[in-house]
Amino acid sequence: MMIRIENLYKIYGKHPEKAMELLKKGLTKEQIKEKTGEVVAIQDVSFEVKRGEIFVLMGLSGSGKSTLLRCINRLVEATSGKVYIEDGDVVKMDKNDLMMLRRKKIGMVFQSFALLPFRTVFDNVKLGLEIDGLGENEIKNKVMEALEIVGLEGWRDSYPDELSGGMQQRVGTARVIATGQEILLMDEPFGALDPLIRRMNQDELLELEKRIHKTIIFVTHDLAEAVKMGDRIAIMNPEGKIVQIGTSSDIVNHPADNYVRDFTRDMVRFFAVGRKKKAPDNL
Ligand SMILES: Nc1ncnc2c1ncn2[C@@H]1O[C@H](COP(=O)(O)OP(=O)(O)OP(=O)(O)O)[C@@H](O)[C@H]1O
Ligand SMILES: [Mg+2]
Repeated sequence: MMIRIENLYKIYGKHPEKAMELLKKGLTKEQIKEKTGEVVAIQDVSFEVKRGEIFVLMGLSGSGKSTLLRCINRLVEATSGKVYIEDGDVVKMDKNDLMMLRRKKIGMVFQSFALLPFRTVFDNVKLGLEIDGLGENEIKNKVMEALEIVGLEGWRDSYPDELSGGMQQRVGTARVIATGQEILLMDEPFGALDPLIRRMNQDELLELEKRIHKTIIFVTHDLAEAVKMGDRIAIMNPEGKIVQIGTSSDIVNHPADNYVRDFTRDMVRFFAVGRKKKAPDNL
């Protein structure tokens, strides 16, 4: 198992222990906010991600997706619970371990692949390697190797705005290949793109994944994207709980509760129209 999360809680505020107590008594996120000002972001979240899997976190705005993602590399400190990466307990890591983990093991991708406009393609890919103390030659080899994999070796001295959207995305991809991190945390990476480019980027990532087999946790609130990208999908509810984990067809055909069913109404349409798949049998 690549990633294992056990009973994870995150409460934002000065007195999380108060909020934890009230949670145990069965109060809702809203009631706890009203009573104490503490914000319950995620509660009792457990799941495992297999090596090479694309695991999608889906849920409405505020359901705790970004918080959960950031607890994995400790950009956010969980209130309680466990996070294991290959059996290493992330919550127990000291500053140094954590730095190595973020550098070597876990990469994070935010909206779009965020290239620096005043750096060349070569220098953009080099970004992730610079802080690693590698020799100039080693860096050059890694960057050129990555550019070759994505078919951009001839563009090394160009600037991002001289490339098409799809090519820019490949530069971002090359950066990930160059750093060699096994785990990718992607927080709505394509959220800012228009639908056509977005679809292209999704396709590129899926194609790339076939070659490099990263373990990816992918956040989205877009159903079609979740179904397309996810080997499995976890659905978070507004209370910050995971209410269901499964393949897209598990979730569409056997929604765990009404909240999931509301989501799947859209998915049902997507299955029927977008994919020309057989419509699920609960229609
Ligand atoms: N730094 C913070 N301080 C206090 N509360 C926060 C903080 N970050 C998030 N929250 C709260 O935690 C809850 C979960 O937020 P989070 O950003 O994780 O949700 P999300 O699912 O990523 O939402 P979105 O889809 O809008 O990005 C929300 O109620 C939010 O108000
Ligand atoms: Mg978010």
